[in-house]
Amino acid sequence: MMPPPILVSAACVFILLLSGCNDAPGYPKTSAEVLRPQDQLSFDILYRQNCSACHGADGQNGAAIDLGNPEYQALVDDRSLRKWISGGMPGTQMPAFAISMGGTLTDSQIDAIVLGMRNTWSQRAVLGGRNAPPYAQDQKGDALRGKEQYNTDCASCHRASKQQVTSPDYLALVSDQALRSIIIAGRPDIGHPDWRGDKPGSPLSAQDVTDIVAYLGSSRSATPGQPYRRDR
Ligand code: HEC
Ligand code: HEC
Repeated sequence: MMPPPILVSAACVFILLLSGCNDAPGYPKTSAEVLRPQDQLSFDILYRQNCSACHGADGQNGAAIDLGNPEYQALVDDRSLRKWISGGMPGTQMPAFAISMGGTLTDSQIDAIVLGMRNTWSQRAVLGGRNAPPYAQDQKGDALRGKEQYNTDCASCHRASKQQVTSPDYLALVSDQALRSIIIAGRPDIGHPDWRGDKPGSPLSAQDVTDIVAYLGSSRSATPGQPYRRDR
C-alpha cells in the first residue's frame, strides 16, 4: 500500500533538511569557522569577512587600495598598518576595527591580519633596490609646483574624459595619505603606475609626490556632491 502523500512530503522535507543544511549560505563550512568570532585568528577568514568587500579578494581589484600589491607592503610599516586598521582612516570610508574604537576585532586579530598580509603579499626586493619616496610625508608641499608636476606626469593618462583624479568629489573621499600610498606604490590591479611612472628614467622624487598631493588636496571639496558651498 502507498503511504499517504502527507507522509511522503514530510519525509522529503526531512531528507532535504539533512542534506541541504551544510550548503546553506552563511553556514560555517570548516571547523575553523565554528570558533567564537573573537577567537578567530585565521588571516584568510578574517580578511575575507572584514576586508575583501572593499579591498578585493586577494587584495586586488577592490574599490579601495590594493593591499595585495607587494610594493605597497614594502612601503608601509607595521605601526601604520595597525593604526589604520584599529582606528580607521579619517577622510575615507576605511572603518575603525578595534573593539576600543567601536569595531569588532581584538588586538590579537588585528596583529594576525598584519602578519597575514606580510606573509601572503610581501615579496623581497620588490622595489629592486631603488629607494621609493617615504611612506609618510615629511616635508611641506607646494601646490603650485604640484600642479605643473601633475600636468607633466599624470594628465596624459588622467584626462578629464577618463578617471577624474582631480575631481573635488573624488578627492573628498580619499585622504592625503591614501593618495600618497597610491601614487608611490601604484595600483597594478587597475593599471596605475608606481612612482617610477610609465616611462623609464624619470621617477618621482619625494618632493614631487608631496607637491602633487598638496595640489590634489587643494582641490578637495568640503561639501562633496553639492554645487554650492554651505558656509556655517
Ligand atoms: C567599507 C570599505 C572598507 C573596508 C571594509 C575596509 N577598508 Fe581599508 N580602506 C578603505 C578605503 C576607502 C581606504 C582609503 C584608501 C583608498 O581610498 O583606496 C582604506 C585604507 C586602508 C589602509 C591604509 C592604506 C594606506 O594608504 O596606507 C589599510 C592598511 C587598510 N585600509 C586595511 C584594511 C583592512 C586590513 C581591512 C579589514 C580588516 C579593511 N581595510 C577594511 C575601505 C575599506
Ligand atoms: C600610464 C597611465 C597613468 C599615469 C601616467 C598615471 N595614472 Fe593614475 N591611474 C591610471 C589608471 C589606468 C588608473 C585606474 C583607472 C582609473 O581610475 O582611471 C589610475 C588610477 C589612479 C588613482 C586611483 C583612483 C581610484 O579610483 O582610487 C589615483 C589616485 C591616480 N591614478 C593618481 C595619479 C597621479 C597623481 C599620477 C601622476 C603622478 C598618475 N595617476 C599617473 C593610469 C595612470
